[in-house]
Amino acid sequence: MTFNFTKSVVAFVIVSFGVAAFSFVVWVLPGFFVTPHLATISDAKPYSPLELEGRDVYMSQGCHVCHTQMVRNLEAERLRYGRPNKMEDDIYEHTFLWGSSRIGPDLTNIGLKYTEDWQIQHLKDPQSLVPESIMPPFKWLFEQPLDSAITAKKMQALRKLGVPYHDDEIANAAQEVKGKTKGDALVAYLMSLGVDTHKNKKDLQ
Ligand code: HEC
Repeated sequence: MTFNFTKSVVAFVIVSFGVAAFSFVVWVLPGFFVTPHLATISDAKPYSPLELEGRDVYMSQGCHVCHTQMVRNLEAERLRYGRPNKMEDDIYEHTFLWGSSRIGPDLTNIGLKYTEDWQIQHLKDPQSLVPESIMPPFKWLFEQPLDSAITAKKMQALRKLGVPYHDDEIANAAQEVKGKTKGDALVAYLMSLGVDTHKNKKDLQ
């Protein structure tokens, strides 16, 4: 009589454990050793207080539901969106915003593509620049002021997670954000995307 693997609970448990252990060794374990090294090779810069607030606006409006921030290393993606993401780009991303659905284009390198004026006009009225666009307008963001009282606290929390903010940067955070609107912050965030990781602006042209 031959042993029937498909009916053996013991074989199922052993094989499942083997697959899980293999995945852990190959995917999870290397991360523990690589992470400290990433900071030394990364060109990523921590967000300024205004950019950081803009990132929170980006999340609050669900921009990440329609836009990815993950350029894969495939020719079609490189041609359209520029430099592909690298592991070390995301050392200050808490939480990451790679997204999973591209209803609109990828925004990883969008800071190199347009001017600030273009971004403001597009956010206020996307169809005025791209008539066939299905992106909703976000005009009111330019009428709502930011809450500067909690910017420093956000930076302190990020510092605990390893983002190297200096004491004076945190002390001046409220001053930098004061009087700005949510729209101003969002534009500052968009204009920062891809800029630090590109040594050469021509990469995207
Ligand atoms: C319903 C899905 C949807 C949502 C939500 C959305 N977008 Fe878009 N977005 C699009 C589409 C579709 C396009 C392409 C047409 C266009 O340029 O308007 C686009 C284009 C863009 C572009 C220009 C990209 C390029 O390479 O030309 C930027 C920048 C952008 N969106 C930012 C944002 C931001 C910031 C938010 C959140 C405040 C947002 N989008 C929310 C669908 C969306």
